Amino acid sequence: MNLKINKYYLPDPSDTLAQRLRKRLTRRAVPSFPRTIQIQTGTGCNADCIFCPYGATYDAQPKGRMEDSLFKKIIDESARYNVRRISPYLMNEPFADKHLFERISYINKANPRAKVIVTSNGALLVPPVVERLLALGDGVHELYLSVQGIDKDSYEKTMRGNMDFDRTMRNIDYLVSTMRKRRLKRPHLWITMVDTEVIDAQRAVAYWKSRGISSKYTRLENRGGNIADADSFSHSHQMQYFSTCTRLFKQMYIMFNGDVVLCCTDYSREQILGNVRDKSLYEVWNGEVAMNTRRTFLSDKIGELPLCGKCKIDEEVEVEHRTQFDARYYRDDPHPPVSASIDRLPMASSRSASTDSRSSLN
Ligand SMILES: C[S@@+](CC[C@H](N)C(=O)[O-])C[C@H]1O[C@@H](n2cnc3c(N)ncnc32)[C@H](O)[C@@H]1O
Ligand code: SF4
Ligand code: SF4
Repeated sequence: MNLKINKYYLPDPSDTLAQRLRKRLTRRAVPSFPRTIQIQTGTGCNADCIFCPYGATYDAQPKGRMEDSLFKKIIDESARYNVRRISPYLMNEPFADKHLFERISYINKANPRAKVIVTSNGALLVPPVVERLLALGDGVHELYLSVQGIDKDSYEKTMRGNMDFDRTMRNIDYLVSTMRKRRLKRPHLWITMVDTEVIDAQRAVAYWKSRGISSKYTRLENRGGNIADADSFSHSHQMQYFSTCTRLFKQMYIMFNGDVVLCCTDYSREQILGNVRDKSLYEVWNGEVAMNTRRTFLSDKIGELPLCGKCKIDEEVEVEHRTQFDARYYRDDPHPPVSASIDRLPMASSRSASTDSRSSLN
């Protein structure tokens, strides 16, 4: 039985004792500081995924890289509040930042208890970059590689831009075989994808499972209404309002110039909660804009909010297959010929439900 409570409440001074008690038993209080922080250390991505607002919004958005002093200020404050997870990327490709590894080392030093989680499209994860990543030791807790599907055609149709399926697979092969040779457990590698009609996500998960690699597919979102045609490639063709979303209650999303946006869908900065260059994270998190937004969301007036009011998610189940990143697979699968092993795969069977503990992170 899953006892995890995933609903939030804001304390209301006018509540009776009984109301307060009921809320505390059935909901989580909105924390006074975010549990998770995502930081856009620099702008730019080398892909243009069909389901991502990046391509359509990039030209109109400010561009640059985060100053080291601002990055350190954010991490230092997060350490004082015991933030559990820090992800040094937001609406960009993390490995495009030449200073990514120094930044991760800084997080590890300043806040050793925080897990560093990186999500990347994997195209820039060439062998020298893999070596730098692995040189961090346990510095990155989990690495998610967004690989949409397991055949060249649907992958390239989905990720577009300059994305080359064979190159990405070679990068992953190098990472996997190097980690197995060296018996490394960190970062825990996940292959992740967004379930759309363009790819065969079940087949892809079956493929990664056969190689002993964790993988998952998550539900398609229309990103606060920023992907107008998402319904057309969703499974349901009728996505539902994302009223179960918890992002705004526990995560903070900081752009390269210090702007804090509502969430990871806000590519056009429709709802800026504040800026952490001149304010503390605590002040912005507990500021008027953030609190009013949460209050409106919780009082079932989501339709009044500029992003949440348009935000939809597909209703398909999400599937994850977690595996121990086990050295024994190295014996069987040191450097598999990718296309040959994909061709041998049976088509995946029916969709079995499973929970996705991370679906709200990205
Ligand atoms: C915004 S990307 C940033 C990191 C990197 N560029 C990447 O793609 O992994 C973070 C994650 O969001 C996912 N994502 C992007 N658009 C999405 C959508 N419309 N619905 C669900 N997930 C989405 C991506 O697949 C990726 O795993
Ligand atoms: S999902 Fe990631 S890889 Fe794809 S366009 Fe968006 S930021 Fe780039
Ligand atoms: S726009 Fe609102 S509902 Fe959609 S992901 Fe962001 S916080 Fe959640």
